[in-house]
Amino acid sequence: MILAVETSCDDTCAAVVTDDGEIRSNVIASQGLLHARYGGVVPEIASRRHLELIDAVIDDALERAGTGMDAIDRVAVTRGPGLIGALLVGVSVAKALAAVRRLPLVPVDHLHGHVVASTLGDKPIEPPFLCLVASGGHTFVASVEDAGSYEVLGQTLDDAAGEAFDKGARLLGLPYPGGPEMDRLAKQGDAAAFDFPRSLPGDGLDFSFSGLKTALLYRVRDLGEEEAGRRRADLAASYQRAIVDSLLTRARQAIEREGARRFAIGGGVAANSELRERITATCAELCVELWVPDRSLCTDNAAMIAAASRFTPALDYPEYLSLDASARVA
Ligand code: KG4
Ligand code: ZN
Repeated sequence: MILAVETSCDDTCAAVVTDDGEIRSNVIASQGLLHARYGGVVPEIASRRHLELIDAVIDDALERAGTGMDAIDRVAVTRGPGLIGALLVGVSVAKALAAVRRLPLVPVDHLHGHVVASTLGDKPIEPPFLCLVASGGHTFVASVEDAGSYEVLGQTLDDAAGEAFDKGARLLGLPYPGGPEMDRLAKQGDAAAFDFPRSLPGDGLDFSFSGLKTALLYRVRDLGEEEAGRRRADLAASYQRAIVDSLLTRARQAIEREGARRFAIGGGVAANSELRERITATCAELCVELWVPDRSLCTDNAAMIAAASRFTPALDYPEYLSLDASARVA
């Protein structure tokens, strides 16, 4: 049994997962409301809050799994990328938990977690597959030949898709985190009301979202505060349509170029209703088998970290005592 800890950004997470991918518990204490008043994550506040919450979140994960530390064989933890202070809380706690019991520790790449989230549950995806990861900090398409690694085929050259959602939502006066709010508002709007750019840079599989955010800024300015307020749902629907169109275009190109038979999505933006619906249609049309993880496995969580740890070499005691968190991709 694996106990996994994830504290890379503003969610304090712990999960208990078996070696064959059964999720016994997946606890997420979101700090969203705490950061909402600042309009984004404040790193120092995030680390302090992780410190306050982490013990209770781990206890809760063990209790919900109906188990205790004695039944845990391995501890897994997000090593990076993310906010360094936030990561350090998880890495320190995981090291301590593992060290007192002389358990092995598995340092996990957060993005690897998003890539292999679909290997959990009763119908796990098996390599080879392609995966679109769209989160608050990253957006890329990866090829997975074996679950222990992934090759990035194309990635964003500027903003991540989640960042585009959050910044766009902010321009529309929606509270942080903007992605879920925009998802909700877009359902009431007309996606054809406004024409926003679909940027597809180069002839590979890269993404770009910074121009889109600027286009929304100008559009809101041109409309004026009152009219923009009145047409907020149309703006949200049209803006979301542009983000999802770009993601789908690259997904389709990647599938065709690589001749993929299996496709998965992951990352916070994979919780988006329009993306989930339309990627399902795209994959059906291309006769590609699709894995869409439960929303709780798309946004940050520790179960996906446990998932990735099954395919990552473990460090034995006392080797991991010198392990450091890493803000950048390892
Ligand atoms: O994977 P994640 O939880 O954290 C990172 O690793 O970044 O992704 C968070 C991002 C945020 O930008 C958030 O606004 C976005 O995912 N997000 C959504 C939705 N739920 C979360 N974006 C669009 N629609 C959603 N339903
Ligand atoms: Zn993430």
